[in-house]
Amino acid sequence: MIPTFPFRFLINRHHGTPGVVVLPDSGFRRAKEEITSWPGHAVTPLLDLADAATAARVARVHYKDEAGRFGLGSFKALGGAYAVMRLLQAELAKRGVTNAATAVELMDGTFKDATKAITVCCATDGNHGRSVAWGAQRFGATCVIFVHEHVSQGRRDAIARYGAEIRVVPGNYDDAVRQAQKDADARGWFVVSDTSYPGYTEVPRDVMQGYRVMADEAADQIGAAPTHAFIQGGVGGVAAAVATQMRARFGTGVRVIIAEPDKAACLLASVEAGAPTTIPGDLDTLMAGLACGEPSLLAWQELERSAFAVISVPDDSAVACMKALAARTPRVVAGESAVAGLAALLLAARDPFARAALGLDESSRILLFGTEGATDPEVYARLVGDAPSSK
Ligand SMILES: Cc1ncc(COP(=O)(O)O)c(C=O)c1O
Repeated sequence: MIPTFPFRFLINRHHGTPGVVVLPDSGFRRAKEEITSWPGHAVTPLLDLADAATAARVARVHYKDEAGRFGLGSFKALGGAYAVMRLLQAELAKRGVTNAATAVELMDGTFKDATKAITVCCATDGNHGRSVAWGAQRFGATCVIFVHEHVSQGRRDAIARYGAEIRVVPGNYDDAVRQAQKDADARGWFVVSDTSYPGYTEVPRDVMQGYRVMADEAADQIGAAPTHAFIQGGVGGVAAAVATQMRARFGTGVRVIIAEPDKAACLLASVEAGAPTTIPGDLDTLMAGLACGEPSLLAWQELERSAFAVISVPDDSAVACMKALAARTPRVVAGESAVAGLAALLLAARDPFARAALGLDESSRILLFGTEGATDPEVYARLVGDAPSSK
């Protein structure tokens, strides 16, 4: 399906050790009830990639296709927007406006004077900021989004379409995170971040509880438990959500494998060190959503014990996967950050050592998460050689 590329893989020696509960099930139930009640909610498809199964010499490859999520193009729609809503509810209660604003009331504009006075902000490499801006517009808040200089114009425009102010920060994603926090502190804004750090966990926990909806749907759709779940890693939030939900639904038997770009493999570095580890550099992978150098604290607390392995893959392998999916009938449109998991599977499955270490064989049932569609159609067309809608 794709040619051979070099990759790195590491088995997590702490896999299976006991740890703290990072994402309590009560919080997930609340997130699920809320998000599935929003207008526009629809379960995304779980596709059967028989060609990938043949190429990887496994029984099945299931691909959860998030391209259509809420019309935003990625699973991130589930997290940031939900956290914005929760933050507004809490803030309205603190300000004595109302104790229990519902999503419907927020969308109706029942408290619009109060919500407009609340500014939410975040740093993003595209998809999280789009979700926060969409949530802010939907629920009536003011919104400022910080992007680093490498975020494409297409992605900036897509965020601005939801009425957010865009601020460009020199440097990489982690620099944008710091700038968002600095400006928020100075102006009394609220950071709605998808990454957590010491002293900042409440909002990213809500974000991750929202992501669990994606993994929960996949668990409903797949029938028998998968043997392996491959999931892309940026700061690790979605990988932690997937790991948590696989355990909640299927017990501890599903091997969760994180796939990262080789130019931004902070989770691999963390697993190697046995502690959260920041990697330097400009992280210039074309997998823009995964270009993160610092793991999320909460995500790490979950993944340090539940990630079975981490694999880092080169950019070229992601492009090869995008092309392979685009060439299928019916076509699967997957963005640059959607396919690291597929690349990791295909590369590891034909390497005898990695195949054995991961326990991949002809009976394996693999769950992949196609975490975005063509979230920047111009970048997609340039990489695949064909517009996302041309077939
Ligand atoms: C499409 C896509 N997949 C995966 C991820 C990784 O998510 P996380 O940063 O929670 O690890 C991102 C993050 O932005 C993303 O945009």
